Amino acid sequence: MKILVIGGGGREHTLVWKIAQSPNVEKIYVAPGNAGTALIAENLTTKPTDIAALGNVAKDKNIDLIIVGPEAPLASGIVDYFDSLGIPIFGPTKAATQIESSKVFARNLMQKYGISCPKSVVFSSYPEAQRYLERQEPPIVVKADGLAAGKGVIIADSMQEANKALSDIMEAKIFGPAGDKVIIDEYLTGQEVSLIAFTDGKTVSPMVPACDYKKIWDNDQGPNTGGMGSYSPPGFFSARMTEKVTNAILLPTVRAMANEGMPYKGVLYAGLMVIDGEPVVLEYNARFGDPETQVVLPLLKTDLVDILMAVIQGNLDQLTIEWSPEACAGVVMASAGYPGSYKTGFPVQGLDNVDRDLLVFHAGTTLGNNGIIYTNGGRVLTVVGRGKDIAEAREKVYHNLPDIHFEGCYYRKDISLREIA
Ligand code: AMP
Ligand code: GLY
Repeated sequence: MKILVIGGGGREHTLVWKIAQSPNVEKIYVAPGNAGTALIAENLTTKPTDIAALGNVAKDKNIDLIIVGPEAPLASGIVDYFDSLGIPIFGPTKAATQIESSKVFARNLMQKYGISCPKSVVFSSYPEAQRYLERQEPPIVVKADGLAAGKGVIIADSMQEANKALSDIMEAKIFGPAGDKVIIDEYLTGQEVSLIAFTDGKTVSPMVPACDYKKIWDNDQGPNTGGMGSYSPPGFFSARMTEKVTNAILLPTVRAMANEGMPYKGVLYAGLMVIDGEPVVLEYNARFGDPETQVVLPLLKTDLVDILMAVIQGNLDQLTIEWSPEACAGVVMASAGYPGSYKTGFPVQGLDNVDRDLLVFHAGTTLGNNGIIYTNGGRVLTVVGRGKDIAEAREKVYHNLPDIHFEGCYYRKDISLREIA
C-alpha cells in the first residue's frame, strides 16, 4: 500500500514509524512531516489544510490510504472530500468532528445521552455570561466553543481573571468565531487521564490509557503548552476502569453519534477526570492525542494498518488488537521561550549517541541539505523510553536526555514521577 499521513508533529512521526513496520506498506508520504519522518518516508510540502492540493497528491501518487493527524483538516471536511473521491481515509466526517470542534455540541450530546460531564452553562450573549459570572466563586472554568489550538480553556483563579478570559473570548474575539459561544463549567478536581479508542461506528476498541502534562514547568506550574510529556499506562487507571469507561462513555458516545445521524469512525479520544473512581468527560478529541500517541503506539503489538482498514471497512469486531504489558515515558524537548516566542534553526546534536532502544520522535525539526537536523518549532522532540514498568521507562529516557542537545533546549524533569514516588 501507498500511504499518506497528514501533519508534521510528534504524533505524526509516531504514526509513520508504526505504519512503516507493516509488511503491507510499500511507501509512505507525509504532508508536511519533519526531519524524523524524512528519514523513513517522503515529505511533501503540501499544507494539511489545503484539501484540494492533497486530493491532487493522492491521485498523482495512487494513494491507498490517508491518515489525518491534526484536527483542523478534519473540522474542515477532509474526510468527506476523500470519501467523495472514493479514496480510503481514516478519520471522522466534518459533522462527526463537531465532537471536538464544538464544545457546545459535545456538551449537548453528553447531556442528552446521560454521559457524565461537568455541570455547565452555555452562553452566546456576552452580557448574560458576565451576569452569570458575577454569581460564581473562583476557580472558574471558561471555555471557548470552537477550536483554539489548545488555548481555549481558561481556569481562572480570580474573578478578575475570569472576567478577562470572558472578554478576551467573547468581546475581543481572540479565537475568532470559536468564541461566539462559551461554556462556563463547574471546576472539578481529580486524576486526569486520556483514554483513546479505535471505532468503526459500532465496535469500540480502547487503546492503553495515558496521562499527558500540559504545563510548561515542573509540578504543573506556568502556562499551558501543546503537551510537555506523557506516560502509559497510569497505575491508578485499572483494566476495570478501562472497561467502565468503554461501557459508560465510549460506546454510548458512538451510539449517540449514530443516533444523531453522524456515524463516528476513526479515533475517539476521551479526556477524563476520575473523581473518587468515577470518570467524567472533560473533552472529546476526534483524533490521536499529542503527546499521548508517542507513548501509546509503541505498546501496540497489532499491525496499525490492519486496524485502520478494519475501521474504514466497518469490521473492527473481526480483529483482535493486542497491547504490550510494558510501559512508556515520553519527555518533550522544547525550544527556550516556548510556549511564548522562541528562536529556531539550531542544530540538534547527539541523536546518534543515545541507547539503541530509545525512541526519538521529531516534531519541530527540519532536515538541512547538509544532512544536519535543525530545530524548527517550539516542541522539538518527544523522547520515549520503554521498559517493563514506568520506573524502568522513566530511567531510560532521563538517562539519555543529557546526550541530546540544541541551543536553549528545555524539558520537564518530573514526567511520570508521580507513578514512582
Ligand atoms: P479541555 O480542553 O476541555 O480538556 O480542557 C483543558 C484542560 O483544562 C483539561 O485537561 C483540564 O486540565 C482542565 N479542565 C477542563 N475542564 C475542567 C473542569 N471542568 N474542571 C477542572 N479542570 C478542567
Ligand atoms: N494531549 C492533548 C491533545 O492531544 O489534545
